[in-house]
Amino acid sequence: MKTVPDAKNPILKSHKMKTVPDTKKGFAYIYTIGCQMNSYDSEKLAAITGSMGYERTDDLDRADIVICNTCSIREKAQEKAYSFLGTLASRKRKKPGLIAIMAGCVAQQEGERVFRRLPHLDIVMGTQAFERLPTLISRVLSSKGAGITDIDPSPAIFESRPDLSTMARDKISRFVTIMQGCDNFCTYCVVPHVRGRERSRTPESIVEEISTLAGSGVKEVTLLGQNVNSYGQKEGICSFPELLKRIDSIQGIERIRFATSHPKDLSDELISAVLNLKKVCNQLHLPVQSGSNAILKKMNRGYTREQYLGRISMLRHHCPGIGLSSDMIVGFPSETREDFEQTLDLIRTVRFDGIFAFAYSSRPNAPARGFKGALDESEKMARLNELLDLQESITRELNEGRVGEVETILVEGKSLRKRDGSKDEEKLPQMTGRTETGKIVHFHGENIKPGNMVKIKITNAYPHSLWGNLFDDPLE
Ligand code: 5AD
Ligand code: SF4
Repeated sequence: MKTVPDAKNPILKSHKMKTVPDTKKGFAYIYTIGCQMNSYDSEKLAAITGSMGYERTDDLDRADIVICNTCSIREKAQEKAYSFLGTLASRKRKKPGLIAIMAGCVAQQEGERVFRRLPHLDIVMGTQAFERLPTLISRVLSSKGAGITDIDPSPAIFESRPDLSTMARDKISRFVTIMQGCDNFCTYCVVPHVRGRERSRTPESIVEEISTLAGSGVKEVTLLGQNVNSYGQKEGICSFPELLKRIDSIQGIERIRFATSHPKDLSDELISAVLNLKKVCNQLHLPVQSGSNAILKKMNRGYTREQYLGRISMLRHHCPGIGLSSDMIVGFPSETREDFEQTLDLIRTVRFDGIFAFAYSSRPNAPARGFKGALDESEKMARLNELLDLQESITRELNEGRVGEVETILVEGKSLRKRDGSKDEEKLPQMTGRTETGKIVHFHGENIKPGNMVKIKITNAYPHSLWGNLFDDPLE
């Protein structure tokens, strides 16, 4: 396998995107693993392949290009990418012209090593290489089987907008990445190593993108960044609360959400933006990761349990009823039963609406990899299950507390859920949407369309969703 070393790869010229392809060359299948930011980046990959003449397809059998946009935040996500891309070896034997690409975080982290496990891949392209995809593909087409690696780490700010013509239609809610990378260096985390230092897009380009989305019928945007609170600070362009104010005035947008806020940077200005800006939802995702001061310190999180709880009290004081969610890591190296109890205690104290919890996974380049006191997988899983059981009971109680209340829902589409929570393949006349605080609500309703705002009286509560009935006519 011949690979082209990065040092010898000149920075390839940025490709000027065309919305309308000259000729149709085939189909592109894009498989996304990982976070919301990866979903957003995949839309861009679709726009780029679309501009080259490859139509997006959901049918792997039709694909001429397959891109796996990978995630390396935990070992499991990384293995999912290897396993999916591994299946392309036999496809390539049947269809030799098929171009197989690993993109994103695992590619950035592993570089040429990927070819040892997946020698059939054509391109391994890191997080900063997306705009060079057309050039990389042309090189594959003329390179007679040589695998190409592009993991140039020079941070690029990816300003090209998702192409509306290649995006799924009728989606009323969209992600918009406002900044990339991270400067926080939590000791367990691979993000700063694979996505580079923090950098923010300009407010003008963000506002332009959201205005375009609004013009196409989008009603809700979720602004994405590893730490949105520090948006624009490095560049001195505009603060995050100021950005929210600008977006709040975009016609057509009804709701604004954002993730993720770092507790150490949660400012009073942001709290007042949540309180005062009409479209900014009364909801916050504020990852705490652990309830133990000893572990928080080893994680390099930059706050104590007491400071975190202080911010929560402040938030609840100013924004009553705010929807709160968090991320938790269990089984960090040296975490004792007492440390874990502190985490459970914090969960009982805050009573989050929902939690994303993970067993600690050792990552390349992350300092915690070398920390003493690794826990057994079985102990990590036992703690994870204990934590999830506790949170499930809290979520259920909070959801039950909504029964009888009237909530304003932004309708997102048809619901395929039955009341018992199981999936039903037959489409029932049920709709689904979210409350301002982010809770999923299903209801029966005819003549209700995605994008409508409706009032729903909540009748039933389940662990992950609410059910209700239309309270009156659609609000618009
Ligand atoms: N192991 C387990 N969970 C992790 N996260 C980040 N890195 C790791 C890791 N090495 C979790 C954190 C973060 C979320 C996106 O993923 O909780 O907030
Ligand atoms: Fe990772 Fe910490 Fe940055 Fe979040 S803030 S991306 S956990 S380093």
